[in-house]
Amino acid sequence: MGAFSRGVLLGMAGLALVIQFIRPARTNPPIDPSRTLEAAVTVPPEEAKILSRACADCHSNQTVWPWYSNIAPVSWFVIDHVNQGRRHMNLSAWLRPGIDDPALYTRQKFRSACNRVKTGNMPLLSYLLLHPSARLSPADVDAICGWADSLEQDK
Ligand code: HEC
Repeated sequence: MGAFSRGVLLGMAGLALVIQFIRPARTNPPIDPSRTLEAAVTVPPEEAKILSRACADCHSNQTVWPWYSNIAPVSWFVIDHVNQGRRHMNLSAWLRPGIDDPALYTRQKFRSACNRVKTGNMPLLSYLLLHPSARLSPADVDAICGWADSLEQDK
């Protein structure tokens, strides 16, 4: 190996080490039971199971952080997905200040969830590659969409 390639390799190894010091926080904020999705609406057991299996890692405060979420730069993407996912829809903090009509909010979110799972937009592909058990069957998609429909019919 020439001195140049050795230098490049050393540089890359050094960079890989140095970026480990950039550590965004991995949080699982405490859950107020009076603000969860279950506090807002009765979740049928089948839907609850799908949500916890396929969505909760990014859309709740009960994230199971995988080992690679400790290692930069992968950690940056994982943590960003979770933070963004929680911001858009958080099963653990469903009822947030600013939501005036929780029933309407719930209907809208599950309509949106139905659209996302129907088109294969959720769960995120990068997540599915590492969590094959989070894959949704057509029956799972029907269950989510059927529940979204029934929320609208019940209003
Ligand atoms: C790997 C993390 C991850 C998983 C797993 C995941 N999501 Fe998401 N989700 C995100 C991120 C990030 C966003 C925000 C970016 C976007 O809108 O695409 C999002 C956005 C959404 C939105 C838009 C919410 C809104 O109204 O703004 C819905 C609905 C949604 N996800 C539903 C689901 C459902 C249902 C599941 C499970 C079947 C799921 N997601 C699984 C990361 C995830």
